[in-house]
Amino acid sequence: MLDVSGSLSVPSVLDADAPSPAATSPYLSAPVVRPLSEILPDDPLLMMGAGPVPIPDAVARANSVVINHLGTTMSTIITQVKEMARYVFQTRSNWVLGVAGPGSAAMEMAISNLVRPQSKVLCVVNGFFSARMAEMSRRLNADVAILEIDGHRAAMLDEVEAALLAHRPECLTIVQGETSNTVFNRELPAIARLAKRHGCLVIVDAVCTLSTMPLDMDTWQIDAVITGGQKGLSSIPGVSLIAFSDEAWERIAQRTDSNSHWCLDARLATNFWHKGSYHYTAPVSGVLALHEALRLVCAETLPARFERHARCSLALQQSIEAMGLQLFAPTASRLNSVVGIEVPRALDNGQVCAHISERYHVEISGSFGLPVVRIGQMGEQCRSHNLFRTVHALGSTMRDLGVKVDLPTSMAALEKGLQIPAHRGIAPGAI
Ligand SMILES: Cc1ncc(COP(=O)(O)O)c(C=O)c1O
Repeated sequence: MLDVSGSLSVPSVLDADAPSPAATSPYLSAPVVRPLSEILPDDPLLMMGAGPVPIPDAVARANSVVINHLGTTMSTIITQVKEMARYVFQTRSNWVLGVAGPGSAAMEMAISNLVRPQSKVLCVVNGFFSARMAEMSRRLNADVAILEIDGHRAAMLDEVEAALLAHRPECLTIVQGETSNTVFNRELPAIARLAKRHGCLVIVDAVCTLSTMPLDMDTWQIDAVITGGQKGLSSIPGVSLIAFSDEAWERIAQRTDSNSHWCLDARLATNFWHKGSYHYTAPVSGVLALHEALRLVCAETLPARFERHARCSLALQQSIEAMGLQLFAPTASRLNSVVGIEVPRALDNGQVCAHISERYHVEISGSFGLPVVRIGQMGEQCRSHNLFRTVHALGSTMRDLGVKVDLPTSMAALEKGLQIPAHRGIAPGAI
């Protein structure tokens, strides 16, 4: 404390009962926290879980830039983002929008714009994320019918047809890849076409699959596709993408009631995404990051990207089995984008994830109540150097925790798998 002469006065014992400056201040006291440099590890963890995934340098650099969210520079960027997203979704539809929010916000945008109170919705549920679409539909007071697929397997065309006939829904929701239990709805193209023949709009969650495997929105007749940034696209979490078909847009344009979600109202979102004007302040850095992620997908091309993903994931799966561990999903229903591995009975998945992270600096994921760990194969995760490090870390973790595994055979299987093109047309050097 400075006295009138300007020198520092030390409070005397007599002042001890005087209120402290903090107690007299009208403000709450500022918390003392640790800087990020003390919290983040010096050696960054390799993100090999179910997302977020590692991001390329160009994406990281773009994510550090802030520009005006309106104006000609942003307009050019938005035009390019939409053009590239159309390629990635394989659609000629004009109705591509970005979403400031996670994949779940894009999911809620699809559902809240297409599903109205009392409308009949059929939700194909194979796991946690497909159940989320049912929950969102329920919250809109829709009349929700669930086709529950038991046993961690893909939905079959005939069971979907039976449910379509029984419920006659206006909308069908389905996930392409169920990240939670690594189930792949392989029959999605036929299911989507079938639903359209039954006069139903089709909403597809492609959050973990987009750009990792084929999804042809127009050819498969899908009405809304959603994805997040942090998975196959290898961008940051928090900026997502959605595409509506012309038919879906017609339904949205003709709505007379308002969407109760103001931020997720697709018609309002066109102010920013199609008219260069204000809806809300877009997360500019995240949009720039997404631009760069999409640009890299376009430069690689989808066929080459699908090939890289298939080859890496199959090589990973072979190496896991060669180690002596079991894959979780049955072959016919197995997702390549996220690989589920059964945890030996003596261990629990929390132990495995904690050990591999602390000891080997590799992050993998547990699963939603299942005795499974999951390794992602999305975007930058599908690189040979990341796979070698991850398989070595997983095998070493198992050995450290007392499980007998054959790590040399596993590493050899990985090496061999990476040399075999999953399809024609890509040189092994590309991964
Ligand atoms: C298939 C699927 N759908 C939806 C989501 C939700 O995405 P977000 O966590 O970005 O909201 C996820 C996230 O893991 C997912 O894997």
